[in-house]
Amino acid sequence: MSSLLLPLAAGSASVTPADAAPRAEGKSLVAFFSRSGNTRVIAGQLSRALPADLFEIVPATPYPADYFETVEQARQERDRGDRPPLKAQLPSTASYATVFLGFPIWGETAPPVIRTFLTVHDLADKTIIPFITHGGFGLGNSEAVLASHAPQARLIEGFSMQAPQERQTIERITQWLDTLKVK
Ligand SMILES: Cc1cc2nc3c(=O)[nH]c(=O)nc-3n(C[C@H](O)[C@H](O)[C@H](O)COP(=O)(O)O)c2cc1C
Repeated sequence: MSSLLLPLAAGSASVTPADAAPRAEGKSLVAFFSRSGNTRVIAGQLSRALPADLFEIVPATPYPADYFETVEQARQERDRGDRPPLKAQLPSTASYATVFLGFPIWGETAPPVIRTFLTVHDLADKTIIPFITHGGFGLGNSEAVLASHAPQARLIEGFSMQAPQERQTIERITQWLDTLKVK
């Protein structure tokens, strides 16, 4: 597994390099969305190490258990620009100076619920530090999505890493099942 700093998006003047950002005074929040658990592990570690409050971003209507159905639904939502409603939102973000925002890359961008999260919460003047997992195809346009959906926040270079893909696990299990003589 590798880790890297998010590259500065070409032409984006709204992302501050991590080493150039003044340390924010005030409480931190770790908000995350995770389907298969990779991003959840990082969120838990961050919330304990910082320490920071932890908030899981959960869609009001769960995604299908089936991976391939989820991929198709996510693709349609991305193409329509949907913002699926959340199961819950923070009553207030007033006490937080910094929001660590975690998510997996879905369809070469941030999952639709991340657009919802950024839209329904007041993040003006807050520092957003992303932490992103992906299956090996990089960050897509996720950084630009953060910048455009939280235009009044200060976006700092974050953390990203490649993490296991559900798709590969499913393929390996399918191969294994095919070799079994039992039903
Ligand atoms: C619906 C869906 C779409 C995905 N699209 C991409 C993608 O475009 N590029 C990529 O590198 N990984 C993609 N992945 C893999 C995830 O980004 C990766 O496995 C991530 O670590 C999963 O995080 P999680 O365990 O916190 O859900 C996709 C996974 C899902 C479920």
